[in-house]
Amino acid sequence: MRGELDVNGISAGSSSRAPSVPEKKPGSGLFPYYENGDRLKAKHVGTNMVSGRQFVSWALGLIPLTTGAVILDAGCGWGRFTWPLIEEFGVDSPNVYCVDSSLGMALSAKKEAHRRRHSSKFAAAEIQALPFPTGHFDGVMANHVLYHLPDIGAGVKELARVVNENGWLLATTNSDHIRVPVLEYHYKALDILGIDDESQNGSPFSMENGKRLLEEGFKEVDLEYFEDSTRYSSADEFLASYKKIGRYHNLLARADVDQERKRQLPVLVHQQAQDEIDRMGELLSPVRMGAFVCRAPRP
Ligand SMILES: C[S@@+](CC[C@H](N)C(=O)[O-])C[C@H]1O[C@@H](n2cnc3c(N)ncnc32)[C@H](O)[C@@H]1O
Repeated sequence: MRGELDVNGISAGSSSRAPSVPEKKPGSGLFPYYENGDRLKAKHVGTNMVSGRQFVSWALGLIPLTTGAVILDAGCGWGRFTWPLIEEFGVDSPNVYCVDSSLGMALSAKKEAHRRRHSSKFAAAEIQALPFPTGHFDGVMANHVLYHLPDIGAGVKELARVVNENGWLLATTNSDHIRVPVLEYHYKALDILGIDDESQNGSPFSMENGKRLLEEGFKEVDLEYFEDSTRYSSADEFLASYKKIGRYHNLLARADVDQERKRQLPVLVHQQAQDEIDRMGELLSPVRMGAFVCRAPRP
């Protein structure tokens, strides 16, 4: 083992470059949705592709994985990628390190590991300031997280710092070029209710703009798209799915939006889904995401 790390008291070796990370209270920060892993897990477990494929297995299949590889899951969430890495791809659980900027989220992942009898390591840490020595990992994952960083370039450089010279980074994200009904109806409802929201502008880290950002930390950056769809046969099923997304939960947490408009929001989303189902017989939501595989970290 190359270092000890625990969510209740980080000590993972020393790094001359990584600044120390202040401990965060559960639920602090910009994302109430991420205060623990419950909502994210419910969303992931409840999403099935029409083809039957699993996005996580597809992405992990793009990287060279060996049993003894030492791997960091940065922005691990409840562990969507961590568990298949161990259970499906055979990586030794003590070699897997998981960090998340939300302490509550890291604790949820730790609890999930305990339930699954894995002995991976967990800590609250920011991608921009990882508590690990330079070149510590054979592989690093930063899945569906880089778009949250205030300075993506700085985060990418920090991820590159902790990867060894033969190592890799796997970074998954969404495509900007896709119709996402759950977001389309959310923003249409916000519009009708007169609620301002800036998060509907293009993603700061998408399949289309991510390569340039990753090249700040890696000399080689390859990308692959994953295309599929999810199907909803009723507006109630669609609404249940809508109620699991972060944008809905974060809107409910806004102090500047009154209760009546918060109550109207799902009603309007349901209405739009019902209209589409009445017109088309079903509601098909196209999926377009993908993965970047990066090698040759820049010194
Ligand atoms: C959309 S979830 C993705 C979780 C997981 N990687 C997955 O693919 O399921 C984003 C996660 O990144 C975490 N996060 C956001 N900003 C972060 C940062 N600067 N450093 C580390 N984690 C961060 C959030 O708390 C959340 O758990």
